[in-house]
Amino acid sequence: MSGRVIGVLGGSGAVGRVAVDRLSRYGLGPLRVGGRDLGRARAVADGAPGGAAEAVRVDLGDPGSLAAYCEGCSIVVNCAGPSYQVLDTVARAALAAGADYVDAAGDAVALRALASDPPAALARRSAVFSAGLMPGLSGLLPRVLAESGPLERLDVYVGGAAAIGPLSAVDALLTRGPGFGSALAAWRGGRVVERALAPLRSVALPGFRGRVHAWPFLSAEAADLAAELGVGELRNYTVYVSEHIPEALARAWAADDLPVEEHVPSVVAAADADIAIGGPWYTLLFHARPRVRGGGAPTRLLLRTPDSYALSGVVAALAARALAEGAVPAGAHAASAVLDPRGVLDALSRDPLVDEVDLG
Ligand SMILES: NC(=O)c1ccc[n+]([C@@H]2O[C@H](COP(=O)([O-])OP(=O)(O)OC[C@H]3O[C@@H](n4cnc5c(N)ncnc54)[C@H](OP(=O)(O)O)[C@@H]3O)[C@@H](O)[C@H]2O)c1
Repeated sequence: MSGRVIGVLGGSGAVGRVAVDRLSRYGLGPLRVGGRDLGRARAVADGAPGGAAEAVRVDLGDPGSLAAYCEGCSIVVNCAGPSYQVLDTVARAALAAGADYVDAAGDAVALRALASDPPAALARRSAVFSAGLMPGLSGLLPRVLAESGPLERLDVYVGGAAAIGPLSAVDALLTRGPGFGSALAAWRGGRVVERALAPLRSVALPGFRGRVHAWPFLSAEAADLAAELGVGELRNYTVYVSEHIPEALARAWAADDLPVEEHVPSVVAAADADIAIGGPWYTLLFHARPRVRGGGAPTRLLLRTPDSYALSGVVAALAARALAEGAVPAGAHAASAVLDPRGVLDALSRDPLVDEVDLG
């Protein structure tokens, strides 16, 4: 490794400041908190509980600034976005500086952008994408339910009420089309079946507050998981407390001749309206039916957090810890494919940002 500093790019954001906090508490570092606003970065660096954190001004849109930021880092953790515009930009700069890479976001599309034209450094170094909640935990935690054998069926419900900042709203608006997933689709018998499912409106789900709306969306992550584990049928739902967000997204996608930024205020407002209903909360629920029944293996995993963005910062920090411990092979990977599902679940069970973990 070229250095021993861990850089957290976007370390003053909703995801990044929690990544900084946890990396510091795990005793990793020294840390380098990066962003365009040096004052915001410095406030986070000064508050790092383990000390030894510096603040550095960096604009990831400026190649010189980004290269200088990555120089001397052993790991660069990217929590800046919008992910679907950043793609593999920061990963390439980190690898060029001799560092490993973690991205709290970055879907299969970003991973492919790097892997399709891999830099030579990727033969020795690692790049871990989708180290957040969704994608991230949504593809990692179901593996705990598949430890004892193949699954006939897996149902995934992820959602709740969470504030969406302007930067993440751009990601929400751009996460569509081939490469990301397919609305109403399910995975059945080894392939994607379009229009297989209908929205579940006003349903009660374990661990979710009140009645919620569950929208079927077979993400690329969910389809990859089903294919890898040989799941017979996988149903993947994004859960909302109201129709505000799906309606705002549908309106924006119907008017996609306008620049994406024009639609950001309505997505941000829709998320705020959801929070006004009952405050912020978020749940991940996985329900499995094993092929061989009666073996006593757990069939349900539930995790509840008050803050999905902050929890993504915890996951990014856990991915960086796995890299620092040498537990990740060289190459480009999704976090769900290389992190230890049990190890992450245990760490999350002890994290103050997790209200409940129920495995049974
Ligand atoms: N996988 C998941 O489950 C998950 C969950 C939540 C969020 N995310 C993703 O995580 C990313 C961050 O979300 P967030 O809500 O934390 O955003 P945020 O609160 O707006 O924070 C963004 C951070 O990036 C920095 N930044 C923005 N543009 C930059 C640039 N050009 N150069 C350098 N730094 C820059 C910002 O600081 P300055 O403004 O000072 O530059 C800030 O520190 C988004 O891509 C989002 O989609 C993923």
